[in-house]
Amino acid sequence: MNASQPDTKLDELARNYRDGFSLASGFYKDPSVYTVDLDRVIFRSWTFAGHISELTCAGAYFLFEIGMESVIVVRQVDGEIRAFGNVCRHRGSRICDSQSGVVKMFVCPYHVWSYNIDGSLRGMKGESPGSNEKDYRLRPVRLQLVEGLIFVQINSNGPSFREAAEEVSTYLAPYKLSDAKVAHKDVFRVEANWKLCVENFFECYHCSNGHPEYARSHVNASPDGYLTKMLEDQIERRKSLGLAHHSVAKYGSPLSAGQQNYRINPWVLKRGYRTGSQNGGQLAPRLGGLEDLYGGYTSLLIGPTSFFILYSDYLVCFRFSPKGVNLTDMEVCWLVDESAQEGRNYNVADLVWLWTLTTEQDTGLIERNQKGVNSMMYEPGPYTSTEGLVREFVNWYVGAIKYSGEPGTT
Ligand code: FES
Ligand SMILES: [Fe+2]
Repeated sequence: MNASQPDTKLDELARNYRDGFSLASGFYKDPSVYTVDLDRVIFRSWTFAGHISELTCAGAYFLFEIGMESVIVVRQVDGEIRAFGNVCRHRGSRICDSQSGVVKMFVCPYHVWSYNIDGSLRGMKGESPGSNEKDYRLRPVRLQLVEGLIFVQINSNGPSFREAAEEVSTYLAPYKLSDAKVAHKDVFRVEANWKLCVENFFECYHCSNGHPEYARSHVNASPDGYLTKMLEDQIERRKSLGLAHHSVAKYGSPLSAGQQNYRINPWVLKRGYRTGSQNGGQLAPRLGGLEDLYGGYTSLLIGPTSFFILYSDYLVCFRFSPKGVNLTDMEVCWLVDESAQEGRNYNVADLVWLWTLTTEQDTGLIERNQKGVNSMMYEPGPYTSTEGLVREFVNWYVGAIKYSGEPGTT
């Protein structure tokens, strides 16, 4: 289906949407809605692809895959990182299958056209590339670095990343994430629509019962101004360490507004917890050589599917990659400071304990949610006061799918 053509089913779903209530089941299980989701939301948005430490030398590459799309992210001879469509310019074959590696060139297995790492056509079997070189370069894909974090936008007609990149860079600068390194990566496959994964991530209403280990250490909501007071103390603590401490809420703006949506929020850990660990103790060297652990963390939400939890000593990066209407990969990556040495001043099992357990728990909760919304007995239910961010996301999403990117649409 062409996403710019009118779609009665989608129009009807969007028309019947009630602010303050969960989405109708069609949004979570209809293949035609999934196609529109990819075209109008996922491919237009900036998405976290990986970290520069994964590309150590010229020709080092990894694949970034989302929906049916595949992108090659590769380091150039001059050190720059660029991205290209993993699609041969001859007759369209997928070129590269290995998820990562180091190459001198990319060779299409079908008829053996080859490409230099800068995307230029290098060879055509049996013929000289000659003047074809400039016409048949690998298609470039937009890429933006933010403090060593690599973001990619599949459809270059989507919003600009400039405002989000500047704000997030300023926030992250003291942690020196460009010098960080990947300590561990994992993929949690969820049999559910991508939006249920995002919605689950945007609320902690389920945390006390769904994540007892997480809830033991993290304060996300509490009555009687307790959280407000703790946040005030936390802000003072961050100020004394020269760290940014404000909140930024740019999640409400529609894709049509021209800027990528994002959100930054500082949070506190419970007393006795200095980072996101099992016993509250430090897990790895302080990021960027921070003077001290500050007993809090920061959540960054960028676009609809990239989320980051930043502690004083490690960063957890999440990407929720749609793989099908009812299939999503929750891809998780842990970063530590460049000075960290495994077995000496950190160990992977302790580092990943909290967010592996929490993500496994979420996988079960999200799959239950999908089973329920598949039922003919499901009807949208009301958000509570602690689910404000879910409501914000769903409102943003319903606005985004109405926007085809064609002139005259909003
Ligand atoms: S499709 Fe790649 S060489 Fe023919
Ligand atoms: Fe959760």
